[in-house]
Formats: sequence, C-alpha cells, structure tokens
Amino acid sequence: MNNRIPDLLLIYICFTKANQTWFHAAHHLTKGKGFAGDHELLYGKIYQTLTEDLDALIERAIGLTDNEMCACPIVISDMTSRILKSFFSPADRTDQEIVEIAYDSLEGLLQNLENLHEKFELIGMLSLGLEDLLAGFASQYETYLYMLKQRLK
Ligand SMILES: [Fe+2]
Repeated sequence: MNNRIPDLLLIYICFTKANQTWFHAAHHLTKGKGFAGDHELLYGKIYQTLTEDLDALIERAIGLTDNEMCACPIVISDMTSRILKSFFSPADRTDQEIVEIAYDSLEGLLQNLENLHEKFELIGMLSLGLEDLLAGFASQYETYLYMLKQRLK
C-alpha cells in the first residue's frame, strides 16, 4: 500500500467536513425572500448530502487503509478547523453573499475531489469501487453547483 494514501484521504475527508459544517451554518443563517427554499431545498439538502458523503468516505478510508487516524475525531476536527479558516464565514452576510460564498466553497470541494481522483489514478490505486464512489460525489456536487448558479442570477 502506498503510504501517501491515508494522508490523501484524510485531507479530503476534512475538506468535506469543512464544507459540511459551512453548509449547515448557511442553512441556519440564510435569510430574506428566498428563505424557505434556501433553508430547506438548497443548503438543507447540501449539508445533509455532505453528512452522508462524509460517513461513506470515512468508512471507505478505513476499509482501504486500516488507518484509524482517518476517523479520529481530534485529528479531523483540528485539520477541518484549519481548512475552515480559509473560508469566508456565512455569518453577518446577506442571502446573496451567502450564495456567492457557497458556490465558491462547493466548487473548491469539487476541485479537491478531482485532484484526489487524479492522484489515486497516478499511483495506480483507483479501484472500480472507489472510482464509482468519487464519481457519485462529483455528479451530485455538479447538480448542486447548477442550483447555486441559478440562485445567483
Ligand atoms: Fe435545520
């Protein structure tokens, strides 16, 4: 087993966790005319998807690597908080500002996902099952980017 794999997975787990935390907060903090839809059908759906994705990702990481640091809450929360500090907070923003940050955050996650996919392919460790898992995430995030882009108009 390539020894970079647990670190690659751990970093991506924490990027997902950072987005999950951010979108959960956006669900709480969105406001204005579009509140009901944004709260429930946009940020609500996105943070719930990210919660499920995180669960699947951590379980797969343990299965693939047997490295329990991939599920350590102290390691994950520490790394996630460092990643979150590079995000703009959704607090004290207008609904429009929150959508703009949301779009950039999710686009960043998708970029990280594509990088992870590429690295696994390069080191010859991209199993069919892992590819399917990552492609499923990418497809859903592209759908959410479409929804956020429409909301931005
Ligand atoms: Fe809620």
